[in-house]
Amino acid sequence: MKKSAIAAVVLAAGRASRMKTQVSKVMHPIAGRSTIDYVMTAAAALKPELTVVVVGKGMDDLVQAVAPHRTALQSPPLGTGHAVMAAKKALAGFKGDVVVIFGDTPFLGADTLRRVMAAKRRKPAPAVVVLGFRHETPGSYARLVLGRDGTLEQIVEARDADAETLKLDLCNSGVVAVEKDLLFSLLHRISPKNAQGEYYLTDIVGLARRDGRTCVAVEGPAEELLGINSRADLAAAEAVAQNRLRAQAMAGGATLVDPASVYFSHDTKLGRDVTVHPHVVFGPGVTIADGVTILSFSHIEGATVATGARIGPFARLRPGAAIGEDAHVGNFVEIKAAKLGKGAKANHLAYIGDSEVGAAANIGAGTITCNYDGFAKHRTEIGAGAFIGSNAALVAPVRIGARAIVGAGSVISSDIPDDAIAMTRAPLKMLAGGAKRFRAGRAKGGAKRPKTTKTKR
Ligand code: UD1
Ligand code: MG
Repeated sequence: MKKSAIAAVVLAAGRASRMKTQVSKVMHPIAGRSTIDYVMTAAAALKPELTVVVVGKGMDDLVQAVAPHRTALQSPPLGTGHAVMAAKKALAGFKGDVVVIFGDTPFLGADTLRRVMAAKRRKPAPAVVVLGFRHETPGSYARLVLGRDGTLEQIVEARDADAETLKLDLCNSGVVAVEKDLLFSLLHRISPKNAQGEYYLTDIVGLARRDGRTCVAVEGPAEELLGINSRADLAAAEAVAQNRLRAQAMAGGATLVDPASVYFSHDTKLGRDVTVHPHVVFGPGVTIADGVTILSFSHIEGATVATGARIGPFARLRPGAAIGEDAHVGNFVEIKAAKLGKGAKANHLAYIGDSEVGAAANIGAGTITCNYDGFAKHRTEIGAGAFIGSNAALVAPVRIGARAIVGAGSVISSDIPDDAIAMTRAPLKMLAGGAKRFRAGRAKGGAKRPKTTKTKR
């Protein structure tokens, strides 16, 4: 027999009053990826015929984030049951099972969702399948009330529960699977007569039971089913995500000297034998090849680092940084949209932006590529084997030839050919014995104080 089709309805229109946010709460990132993105990926694993995301008024960022999936507007948000009703029109042409997923449950796993759908398809088919989880301190989660036969009798929201019900530890995750027509006929009958004055999706279980239908609860892992309702929940979710990413990095062959102090992005890629020292932060879009060492207090984002390179301590790699094999980027060096060739070194205090640095070039302490003139960004090219002396300012657009040497303290504003030496320096003034004479004069009280220049106001 052909499996019935699945439509996913993801709820994300809530007011998020506990989060106190101007943007939709499901847009808040966890390890650099929006909460809703995790949920959409889990939903996609069911290969639904269509996915409808229920959004609130003004949530344009969310509509964009879930495109090309359809969205349905719920305005004003009057509860989770009311939110599913808002998706009715978008589901008009669909026949089959609807699985409702809450947009604030980012760690929901694909396998867990598949177990829910498997339970829905078991014969005789239950009317409603709800995904639950056990929690030692269930707090504000709704409780699943099971009958003697183990089937699900009712879902009671914590705020409507009596003391006995609150003692139950089986919680509602929010995931519900119901055949579409049955879902909407049940939803038409729910009322907002409850502590929060909302249309609860959870009420469909009690209604189905009263009609003599069977409802079942599937138990899932609690760590997958934490809902994000407040900033504290968001921080707890971040901690969960970070611990997973740290474990993944180590399982993949990277050494994290102090895992708890390293922060990853969901997409950080580390090769084998990479060593990450304490207090390193990876933003989105980072790929680190094998054998790279990253020393403490480095911040790396949108960058690639090739085999054997050494980064930090205190290095900052910004988007578009591409560090070549065995290259070194040292303390207080910032690199943006720039390539560093094989074996090139920028070891101390430098800014390299919109540049290409050739292999084995040496960038001295304090070198600045002056890439911005207040209007546009310009490029700097530094040839292979070039030597840039300390405190040089390279005024872009400019090209320093291969093997050229730039003297310390120079301001270079025109191209320097290969193998040339270039320097710009104010002439040196030197008074032999001058310091001695000055001190002697001061000691006698004879020398005048240096004059201060007064400016007219
Ligand atoms: C909800 C459930 C609760 C469950 C918990 C699991 C209800 C009534 N409560 O409570 O049983 O234990 O999740 O995490 O279902 N939303 C809308 N429109 C609305 C209201 C909410 O789209 O009018 C969306 C929210 O954006 C959110 C999701 O539905 O993504 C859940 O809403 P939320 O307010 O977080 O409900 P909880 O109090 O967490
Ligand atoms: Mg919630």
